[in-house]
Amino acid sequence: MTHRVALIAGDGVGPEVTAEARKAVDALGLDLVWTELPWGSDHFHEHGTMMPEDALDIARTHDAILLGAVGDPTVPDHVTLWGLLLALRQGLDLYANLRPARLLEGIPSPLEGRPQVDMLFVRENTEGEYSGVGGRAHRGLDLEVGIETSVFTRGGVRRVVERAFELAATRRGLLTSATKSNASRYGYVLWDEVVDEVHAQHRDVRVERVLVDALAARMVTRPESLDVVVASNLFGDILTDIAAALQGGMGMAASASVGSGRLGLFEPVHGSAPDIARQGIANPLGAIWSAALMLEHLGEPEAGQRLLRAVEAVCRAGTLTDDVGGSASTVEVGDAVAARL
Ligand code: NAD
Ligand code: IPM
Ligand code: MN
Repeated sequence: MTHRVALIAGDGVGPEVTAEARKAVDALGLDLVWTELPWGSDHFHEHGTMMPEDALDIARTHDAILLGAVGDPTVPDHVTLWGLLLALRQGLDLYANLRPARLLEGIPSPLEGRPQVDMLFVRENTEGEYSGVGGRAHRGLDLEVGIETSVFTRGGVRRVVERAFELAATRRGLLTSATKSNASRYGYVLWDEVVDEVHAQHRDVRVERVLVDALAARMVTRPESLDVVVASNLFGDILTDIAAALQGGMGMAASASVGSGRLGLFEPVHGSAPDIARQGIANPLGAIWSAALMLEHLGEPEAGQRLLRAVEAVCRAGTLTDDVGGSASTVEVGDAVAARL
């Protein structure tokens, strides 16, 4: 079966890192066709929108989307992100954002003693603190107000928590739920209750409820004590930047936004990194790893594993960009991965 993959290279380092991810996937020789979708900040400057009006319909004609990054200093971030990335995640109902964080051999650890880092974050991806509900009134006046409403639904929490339990059962069997139900009395209390309810169906998995502030500290002091972490949209966002640091830096971290269907959105965790864009030094490994997650989701687990093994081998061999202690260019790292395939 031919896999139809949409490539949204996007902004900043997005085109640089996705070019290497595409190169690596092509080296696997799968039956896969790419469609380049020129969406992003250039599209915004030309047409006034980040993507066309029928973008969701176009997206749905594919099996997967591989995305680089979104965000450009010339356009406000909330315009670019709600115009593209968040619109795709929410509009396509990709409710679970899976973010593995593993420190690979050859990649420097920021922690003394190099503790084990092998976690999987399951981040709620369509509601919570990033539901997009809110507004502003009294614009420009002293009494101006900005309201940002968190929306937690029982069904929305349940489906992502169920996903996390299922994944924990395939790993070391520990699920840590990030919460803040001491200070916030409604959304996170509902979250906790749903975690307990779903646990009743998954007695094979141990569950712990940890306040998110303490969890952030524990990630740094005892990362080896964590396996699967399920978190709300905002908490998952913040915790996975810490996780990225633990696995070597933003350039290493991969993610998969998936829902109940076949279509998924695969992207590195990092942003458009305008500070290093167009210098040929961005780390492409997070994007390549994301492509490996994509292949697994497309029903090509062997190809996905081969790609991940190639990434691991390149890290061990030390063909790395500056952010992870090497001196290779983006293209050299991508070439090294492709050469191993
Ligand atoms: P960022 O991830 O772009 O950059 C943070 C730091 O990490 C920078 O120092 C950058 O140089 C470094 N970095 C990021 N990717 C790297 C890579 N592949 N290799 C080496 N170093 C890398 O986050 P930011 O600076 O907070 O945001 C920049 C822009 O990206 C903003 O417009 C923001 O809204 C957007 N953003 C987009 C996404 C996305 O598209 N998924 C994610 C985060 C931020
Ligand atoms: C991420 C990013 C996005 C998020 C931003 C750019 C909207 O930080 O994918 O982690 O918060 O989800
Ligand atoms: Mn983030």
